[in-house]
Amino acid sequence: MSNVALKTEKMGRVYKLGGRQVQALSDVNLEIEKGDFISIMGPSGSGKTTLLNVLGCLDKPTHGKVLLDGVDITNVAERNLHKTRKHKIGFVFQTFNLMPWLNAVENVELPMEGTGKTKEETRKRAVELLNMVGLSERKEHRPQKLSAGEQQRVAIARALANNPAIVLADEVTGNLDGKTKLEIMKLLGKLNAEQETTIVIVTHDGQVASMAGRILFLSDGKLIAKEKQGTHQNK
Ligand SMILES: Nc1ncnc2c1ncn2[C@@H]1O[C@H](COP(=O)(O)OP(=O)(O)OP(=O)(O)O)[C@@H](O)[C@H]1O
Ligand SMILES: [Mg+2]
Repeated sequence: MSNVALKTEKMGRVYKLGGRQVQALSDVNLEIEKGDFISIMGPSGSGKTTLLNVLGCLDKPTHGKVLLDGVDITNVAERNLHKTRKHKIGFVFQTFNLMPWLNAVENVELPMEGTGKTKEETRKRAVELLNMVGLSERKEHRPQKLSAGEQQRVAIARALANNPAIVLADEVTGNLDGKTKLEIMKLLGKLNAEQETTIVIVTHDGQVASMAGRILFLSDGKLIAKEKQGTHQNK
């Protein structure tokens, strides 16, 4: 079995906006192995979210290929992609995307719907995850009653709900204080080391980035050759 979790080949994404075209990504060649812990850095507008969306099968590239476990997702129908996302990928959105009408525990339960778990099992798992991200006292709160850092942690708990093989997190620590930031990074490091979860995070924070195993840099939609080793080791 191949050890490659995600691969892009000459991948590009052009957005059409009015009469204009925005080349958000071009010629991205990237190979992510199972069990990798990668951080992506780059200036605002360099294409980090676009890249994460494509890697997470939330968006399709306009050029080139994206292979998830060896399968080119550009050829997969949306219905099947939805299934793949639900079971294989945990996504933490830059803007959290929590459901405002659901409280914290219900938000975390959402991705477990239709996976065969009973109501009790689903509740137990959601509560465990909220405890793990330090929100045991906030389970009944709706998103608008939570701070940005707390919403971010609900989004992280939700992403982990189905124990995904791949976790993609956009600015995962952006709203967290120093202590919580390190705790979340430790949690991701532990998942990576103990369960070989493949993790890709986007961050502006050099300290956070260096806690991954490998740091990639995006500039103007291109991966630049400069690549750094982080401090995390799992192999
Ligand atoms: N839906 C869209 N339609 C048109 N242009 C878009 C769209 N989404 C992003 N862009 C453009 O594509 C480029 C890359 O955007 P992207 O959101 O990927 O950047 P980013 O690196 O995540 O930035 P930030 O650090 O601010 O989150 C930008 O120039 C942006 O304006
Ligand atoms: Mg972004």
